[in-house]
Amino acid sequence: MGIVKKTGLLFLAAAGGSGYFWLNRTGELNRTLGAIRRDVTAIQERDPAAANLIETLTCYSGLHAILLHRMAHFMYEQRLPVVPRVVSQFNRFVTGIEIHPAAKIGEGFFIDHGSGVVIGETTEVGDNVTLYQGVTLGGTGKETGKRHPTLMDNVTVGAGAKVLGSVTVGENAKIGAGSIVIHDVPPDSTVVGNPGRPVRERGRKVGAADVDWTHLPDPVADAMQSLVRRLVELENEFKSTFPEKREEIEKAQEEGERELDRVFDYYRGSGI
Ligand SMILES: CC(C)(COP(=O)(O)OP(=O)(O)OC[C@H]1O[C@@H](n2cnc3c(N)ncnc32)[C@H](O)[C@@H]1OP(=O)(O)O)[C@@H](O)C(=O)NCCC(=O)NCCS
Repeated sequence: MGIVKKTGLLFLAAAGGSGYFWLNRTGELNRTLGAIRRDVTAIQERDPAAANLIETLTCYSGLHAILLHRMAHFMYEQRLPVVPRVVSQFNRFVTGIEIHPAAKIGEGFFIDHGSGVVIGETTEVGDNVTLYQGVTLGGTGKETGKRHPTLMDNVTVGAGAKVLGSVTVGENAKIGAGSIVIHDVPPDSTVVGNPGRPVRERGRKVGAADVDWTHLPDPVADAMQSLVRRLVELENEFKSTFPEKREEIEKAQEEGERELDRVFDYYRGSGI
């Protein structure tokens, strides 16, 4: 066995041992084991290729990465100096996934295909979040303090997508592969492109014409109504100017109204 592999295994055993010691000491063991159990079942639920438990435990670098991160994060929370960063770098060395020990990650976290993922220090991730290979949850380089994204529950981030800055990605949102997101993402939406723009919000396509097909405008009927209104006004004026013609005009108006009723019944839909 090569010296690098031997050192790696020794380091893993030492880190695991100290992690176990600290977890046991503070009574955190059950909580952490619960989170790890959810991480394992998340893979089995979300990846049809995960045939059985042994395969899941051995063949998913995303799982190895989150296990090592949970250990590093716990040590970070206990204010252990240096070691959490070293575990994080070891994690990067063996899985190709770099997660800062301070990053807060919820249960049921799944990084599919692993490699090339970077998760920054002030990132916060909710429950049941899925990332694909090449995702960066990073800073823009311009901010201080909280400078990495917050991903709410059930978010999916496609392969190679970059979410940059202290933005919030709402619950159930999807970020398309290769997108660059620098603004907040609404819940239940799909965002694609560079810069990321919503193409779907609450299940509906964004930008599609919102046409009410049952009440389409009818400019011809509107013009006809306006003409009829003007004609009735003229007839009424005619009646008051020439009282001797009143009877004749009223008879014509009655006939006209019957005609109009037929026309407007058609206009309102009964003729269709
Ligand atoms: C974004 C995604 C989740 C699809 O979401 P959706 O809500 O079903 O969206 P649709 O497929 O209806 O696409 C909506 C529009 O976005 C476009 N679009 C979809 N994915 C896109 C992407 N990654 N980049 C740019 N545009 C994209 C579509 O062409 C469509 O455009 P149109 O309305 O002009 O036709 C999916 O395309 C995606 O990128 N998934 C990530 C999968 C991944 O990373 N897999 C890695 C496996 S190894």
